Amino acid sequence: MSDTFDLVVIGGGPGGYVAAIRAAQLGLKTACIDKRPTLGGTCLNVGCIPSKALLQSSHQLETAQHAMAAHGVEIKGVKANLTTMMQRKQEVVQGLTQGIAFLFKKNKVTHLMGSGTIVDSSHVQVTAADGSVQTLTTENILIASGSEVATLPGLEIDEKHIISSTGALALDKVPKKMVVIGAGVIGLELGSVWRRLGAEVTVVEFLDGILPGMDGEIRKTAQRTLSKQGMHFKLGTKVTAASVLKNGVKLTMEPVKGGEAEERQADVVLVAVGRRPYTQGLGLENIGVTLDERGFIPVDHDRQTTCAGVFAIGDVIGGAMLAHKAEEEGSAVAEALAGQVAHVNYDAIPAVVYTHPEIASVGQSEESLTAAGIPYKVGKFPFMANSRARAIGDAEGFVKILAHATSDAILGAHIIGPAAGDLIAEIVLAMECDISAEDIARTCHAHPGLGEAVKEAALAVDKRAIHA
Ligand code: FAD
Ligand code: NAI
Repeated sequence: MSDTFDLVVIGGGPGGYVAAIRAAQLGLKTACIDKRPTLGGTCLNVGCIPSKALLQSSHQLETAQHAMAAHGVEIKGVKANLTTMMQRKQEVVQGLTQGIAFLFKKNKVTHLMGSGTIVDSSHVQVTAADGSVQTLTTENILIASGSEVATLPGLEIDEKHIISSTGALALDKVPKKMVVIGAGVIGLELGSVWRRLGAEVTVVEFLDGILPGMDGEIRKTAQRTLSKQGMHFKLGTKVTAASVLKNGVKLTMEPVKGGEAEERQADVVLVAVGRRPYTQGLGLENIGVTLDERGFIPVDHDRQTTCAGVFAIGDVIGGAMLAHKAEEEGSAVAEALAGQVAHVNYDAIPAVVYTHPEIASVGQSEESLTAAGIPYKVGKFPFMANSRARAIGDAEGFVKILAHATSDAILGAHIIGPAAGDLIAEIVLAMECDISAEDIARTCHAHPGLGEAVKEAALAVDKRAIHA
């Protein structure tokens, strides 16, 4: 194998592996280095995929326990088999990570297992687990090293009693009491998994509401719905200390605005207070790249670092820490290197929380539009008035479309309800293609379909929804 490449990618997560495949498709001789034994990065190995596998399994359990009887399907003796659930999750992960390895072979991307360190702008050293070192020569380097779990002072993650999302994807028994620190995406998704499996889950959040940054009405509805399902919330509260006992953890917490401290015991504490960029061992000092104040790698409009020929994408450059955002950036860098025009529309990146009901969002919220002084109209439609949602027995929530008051351009959309994560795609496409709420309203949607709720919300922008 020749060690000279057009592009060397460090990191085989959604950003890195997509960039590598796209670059190879475009004729660039490409290598991708990852220190994990399997490709797919955080997302496939310990993130998006295993969490969604467990969310689905635990949802099936809850459906069998509580929702099937209403359909006239009676199931007796329903119980969870955690070992099978975990095995299934692992099989899903294995199938998909192997799938990336297959795609690498198919596209002739060289996969190197080891730690990548930049020596200078045209050399990358790869150190394998057995200590052997190989140096690659390359025209361009792409850093896609991702992120790692952020921790809190005084809380040492042991992945047994005090766990991160990685530990929460692999518990071998259902804890009786679980405290989740952080009511963000991970806290609500993995909190839902373990609540459905039987844990008493309390989510402690620093701020006064859950899911900061999302549309206010969605946040309130989500909190109400999750509370109804049995998830407990302690908002405006900070954890100040934790001590691991023989069989669990003792937490000390106090109101953010001041007041008496409170102690609480839990079998397991999940720390879900965000993620931070991962840049250890990259050798950035060798190319004069310095991190910003939050530890991210600064890049320009073309995702080029301060060192010519060295690019960075995904979680390590900040912005939305989402797999699909990293993928878009990966493709953009590869296409630009191959001489194509590349563009990522950061105003049209969807975000989905895979609780039940799902929560999906794109673009501006009512709060951000108000703060920016942008005049807008709201079109809202409840799933209770959607015939498909009623027929499937999953009619909680609504679709909300925010359109510019005069141009009718779609500025944002927020959905809580069945298949929200898939329904949002239509609105993302509308925003990407600059079509208006009126265009969605005039588009024929199949009946009976959940998509009709999107059409009705678009009609509601102009106060002419039919079924509400
Ligand atoms: P990563 O996926 O983190 O990949 C970086 C890779 O680089 C890693 O494999 C690492 O081993 C490797 N690496 C780092 N440094 C080096 C080096 N020096 N040499 C060699 N290799 C190196 N996002 C979504 O969009 N949808 C979801 O449903 C979702 N669910 C999530 C659930 C959980 C529990 C978590 C933790 C995250 C979730 N995310 C989700 C976020 C998503 O995983 C990340 O946004 C995404 O993985 C970022 O991709 P990336 O390519 O930038 O980095
Ligand atoms: P997050 O940023 O979504 O939420 C962290 C929460 O913790 C916030 O509500 C914050 O106010 C709170 N918090 C911070 N410090 C605290 C403290 N000291 N005490 C109590 N609360 C505190 O981060 P999270 O959930 O860890 O997720 C990390 C990243 O992974 C996110 O950026 C997200 O985009 C991504 N992710 C995406 C998923 C998806 O797309 N479905 C699923 C899971 C993760």
